[in-house]
Parts: sequence; structure tokens; C-alpha cells
Amino acid sequence: MISELIEKALEAREKAYAPYSKFKVGVAVLTAGGKIYTGCNVENASYPVGICAERVAMSKAVADGETEFTVIAIVGSGENYCMPCGMCRQFMAEFCKEDFKIIVAKSVDDYKIMKMGELLPYTFDLCK
Ligand code: THU
Repeated sequence: MISELIEKALEAREKAYAPYSKFKVGVAVLTAGGKIYTGCNVENASYPVGICAERVAMSKAVADGETEFTVIAIVGSGENYCMPCGMCRQFMAEFCKEDFKIIVAKSVDDYKIMKMGELLPYTFDLCK
């Protein structure tokens, strides 16, 4: 499953629209029911309007009625693992529990598995 998610994230990265930063990101997120949604970053001439790959993939899923997730794979295009930005951590935390797995990958053979609770402890949550 990890390899499949990373492969799908790599495929999604090819669709990235990143003419400004040239930094392409692809992700694949797995729902609790076993469906995979992908996303890429979509930039804009008005820079802050752009959106990260993580929020694209999860928004596609939510719009499809999916709100429970178990794991996400993220592939950037730099030399280092692409860690999700702060805004995406908060976005993911809305739908994901502390044990949600965040896989940051360079390839199917080179990845690191982290957890939501590590990347964003003490999450702001109006429901608690
Ligand atoms: N980016 C993502 O898509 N996900 C992240 O977690 C970090 C940053 C995108 C936003 C922008 O299009 C480009 O990477 C450079 O910041």
C-alpha cells in the first residue's frame, strides 16, 4: 500500500501547476474505506491564491463525501523530503487523528513515516 500511494503521488506530481516556484508537489491520500485521492499544487500569478497539493487532494475527497483518512504520501521535488506546510498540517488535522500517517517520500524506496500528532501536537479544535 505504501508503494502504491507513493507511485500515485509521483504520478500526481506530473500534473503540478508550479510555473512560479518550479517546485512540484504530488500527494495521494487513502480514505478509511480504501479509496485513494490524489492532488498536486496549483499556483497562481497572485501568489497567495495558490494551493498546496495536500489541500487539493483532501478537498477532492471531502467533496466526494470522504472525511476519514488513514495515510497520505507526499512527494516534493527538492533534495529533501517535502514536509507539509503549517497550513496543510492544520487542514489535515481537521480530518485526521493523531495516528494518521504522513509519508514523506523521495521515491518508492526512500521515504519516512511520520504521524499527525508529531507534526502538529496540541491542535486547535473547536469541537473539543
Ligand atoms: N507546497 C505544497 O504543495 N505542499 C506543501 O506542503 C509545501 C508547499 C507547494 C506550494 C507552492 O506551490 C510550492 O510548493 C512552493 O512553496
